Amino acid sequence: MDYSYNNVKGIYDQVLKLGMLSPPEDIIAAWMLFKNTDRISNMLELGSYLGGGLGMFNQLLDATGHPNVKFTGVDHLDFIGAAARGSKGAWYTDHFNRCLSAEERASLSALNTADEATEWIQERTLRLTGLPIDLTCVLNEQSLSEEQYDVIHHDYGDSVEENLTTIRNCVPKLKDSGIYIVDDWCTGAPLRTVATVIAVQEKLLYPVLWGKNKVFYARTPEHAQRMVSAMLRNPENNPKLFKGMPGSDYFGAGYRTVRMHWQAIQWA
Ligand SMILES: C[S@@+](CC[C@H](N)C(=O)[O-])C[C@H]1O[C@@H](n2cnc3c(N)ncnc32)[C@H](O)[C@@H]1O
Repeated sequence: MDYSYNNVKGIYDQVLKLGMLSPPEDIIAAWMLFKNTDRISNMLELGSYLGGGLGMFNQLLDATGHPNVKFTGVDHLDFIGAAARGSKGAWYTDHFNRCLSAEERASLSALNTADEATEWIQERTLRLTGLPIDLTCVLNEQSLSEEQYDVIHHDYGDSVEENLTTIRNCVPKLKDSGIYIVDDWCTGAPLRTVATVIAVQEKLLYPVLWGKNKVFYARTPEHAQRMVSAMLRNPENNPKLFKGMPGSDYFGAGYRTVRMHWQAIQWA
């Protein structure tokens, strides 16, 4: 499948089919970054939910030269299965009805353990994408090992404190050459956005690429600038859609970031 800006509609359909909670423009942003980075061999997703994001990343990484990535998913399972338990995530049931079959909804609400979630997501990913996923799920951050990751996708947390705790806990799990993706950097999770700004002030994260709702960070300014240069000098890059922002000395002299012009991608 084409994950570039030439296929917004096709990517949108795939996102809906898998039940990922992201706009297609953010898949295009990840495509841009992944095809301009060194080998990615493992990825941690904080908030694995239905596994839609995991399935999408598995396909996208394979298509950008990173096959057989080993995934770890964290999810306490309180939101999926929420209808059956009457717990706080019950509003997600509208989304379940949109994305899942009646059979899938029933089996999802019965999930109780991390191993069951792993199997459920693996079976669905293979059935819907034709690509097997190497996945291990755990119920919380505390259950993670000392493993360090090439990519972390941060996709849960409401309050500033909760999100900052996750960032402080998980940034050390990122390799020096890794990418930390914060989702819902918008009205979707406004206090996560605040937490990320504080983390930037604490020099835990350095911005690289501004997507639509996802922002991509590095752990060090040097690595951030390496990724920015790689994207901007890629001859396949369309500079009208991925634009180098003017330098900001806040992060170091002449420090640059890339802004995805998602409005122009929507018009295209
Ligand atoms: C927004 S959904 C993730 C969507 C998914 N990443 C995607 O791309 O489609 C957030 C998930 O995080 C889980 N979650 C929320 N807070 C959590 C926590 N503190 N620990 C573990 N899981 C959590 C919820 O159960 C929910 O399934």
